[in-house]
Amino acid sequence: MADLVSSKVIRLQINGEPYEVEVATRRLLVHVLRDDLNLTGTHVGCDTGNCGACTIHLEGAPVKSCMLLAVQADGAAITTVEGLAVDGELTPLQRAFSEQHALQCGYCTPGMLMSASALLEANPSPSEEEIRVALQGNICRCTGYWNIVEAVQSAAGAGQAS
Ligand code: FES
Ligand code: FES
Repeated sequence: MADLVSSKVIRLQINGEPYEVEVATRRLLVHVLRDDLNLTGTHVGCDTGNCGACTIHLEGAPVKSCMLLAVQADGAAITTVEGLAVDGELTPLQRAFSEQHALQCGYCTPGMLMSASALLEANPSPSEEEIRVALQGNICRCTGYWNIVEAVQSAAGAGQAS
């Protein structure tokens, strides 16, 4: 019987490193990142585009990686949450999340960080409303959002985008 699952070799630049991986054409990018490339910082909360836990940067823009087939990202530059810190040094935004108690269980945190860092790169001094709009695709079941917004404000106030 013929193999009904087609596959394709794709090339990705992830956190500055080149990757070449063969993927079934039906696989979601988030599953390739986590299961094939062991980049498990990107979380899966829903698989339906609702929670934002899977947010990454695709060519610099925040994207829900459960909403893309991996083959659609062929040739793209991707940043995952693992790519934020440099040489183990947390970014100002990551430190602000810790210092402002912007996480409890932490499940939403990678996606929050990726959405917030994209915001701060595009707009280094966002208003509270702009922060809330930028994070409206990211659901947190623990914090009530106040401390997350304050953490982003804190990082922005320090003049340190991401
Ligand atoms: S896992 Fe992608 S939006 Fe929830
Ligand atoms: S810290 Fe638990 S879901 Fe946000």
